[in-house]
Amino acid sequence: MMTSAQIRQHFLDFFKSKQHQIVPSAPIVVKDDPTLLFTNAGMNQFKDYFLGNKKPVYARVADTQKCLRVSGKHNDLEEVGVDTYHHTMFEMLGNWSFGDYFKAEAIAWSWELLTEIYKLDKDRLYVTVFEGDPSEGIPASTIALAEWKKLIPEDRILFGNKKDNFWEMGDTGPCGPCSEIHVDCRPEEERKKIPGRELVNKDHPQVIEIWNNVFIQYNRLKDGSLQPLPMRHVDTGMGFERLVRVIQGKQSNYDTDIFSGTIAAVEKITGKTYDAGDSKQAISFRVLADHIRAISFTIADGQLPSNTGAGYVIRRILRRAVRYYYSCLDYHQPLLYQLVPLLARQFENVFPELIQQQDFVSKVIREEEDAFLRTL
Ligand code: GLY
Repeated sequence: MMTSAQIRQHFLDFFKSKQHQIVPSAPIVVKDDPTLLFTNAGMNQFKDYFLGNKKPVYARVADTQKCLRVSGKHNDLEEVGVDTYHHTMFEMLGNWSFGDYFKAEAIAWSWELLTEIYKLDKDRLYVTVFEGDPSEGIPASTIALAEWKKLIPEDRILFGNKKDNFWEMGDTGPCGPCSEIHVDCRPEEERKKIPGRELVNKDHPQVIEIWNNVFIQYNRLKDGSLQPLPMRHVDTGMGFERLVRVIQGKQSNYDTDIFSGTIAAVEKITGKTYDAGDSKQAISFRVLADHIRAISFTIADGQLPSNTGAGYVIRRILRRAVRYYYSCLDYHQPLLYQLVPLLARQFENVFPELIQQQDFVSKVIREEEDAFLRTL
């Protein structure tokens, strides 16, 4: 079975072979964009290239970006731990073209990587394209449709509306129509009863979106209007944790080797067992395995928990985790800080900033836990 580290590396190697420069993740905390508290997509760090405010150093880049979707337009916090495929912090694998290649290459390469390198079953893949929006003067995505028709039978190409198929990073900023790739991970008998195409974008836990190919062509202005951009760009985002789960054949992101080490550590610390179900105990394990990543990487990127702004969001995530272990795992001492060394080692070669500040991050988390446990 491919490990998560191999899966990440294959992505980067694939786009390197297509002449992309591999760049580091931007920090998870955004300091220079008043429209965002945290990085919510791989494209954030390239916003000025899309808008034409800065000239890109490379026309093609790829990376894995630490993202956090817990505030603003993209907010998944309440789903996290309750379901098996949303996260606070997640890695977004992405490839970008700044005025270079466009729909044909982006679509063909995403298909090549998924089906030839990762060897996903073509029969289980569905794609969506934008149906257009006359009220905003945006046409249907006929080019994306034509490109997909070269690769996949037409009955697995679905049209989607603005909610699913027009991607925007926030209330303002670069945006454009998008084409998503979904995977149907259900067992064969279930697939025979209900075709996967009926479950795409319907919040089914086993029929999930893994990759979004956005074609950035507009800037959303403050007054709500769309301004066409001088150049056309590609912005893709693939959910790494979901991809690994699909490739490793698991029913839940938490059953992959990304999270299994942390879950085993929580079992050891608390003496409780994780059973992958829907009980409060199972949810607590998932909440801890998820939240420790968001908390640790955000602190490592320079954001301390506090009573305002981004710091308050981190404090809320940390306290959500503490409440779960206190109430549902019956553990009444600081727990989260004990998970930091394991996480730091796991990500040593991907996001080395955590291992470099491991003691500091553990100390901050422990102090926060101590203070909140006292109030509990
Ligand atoms: N920017 C692409 C995405 O987040 O889906």
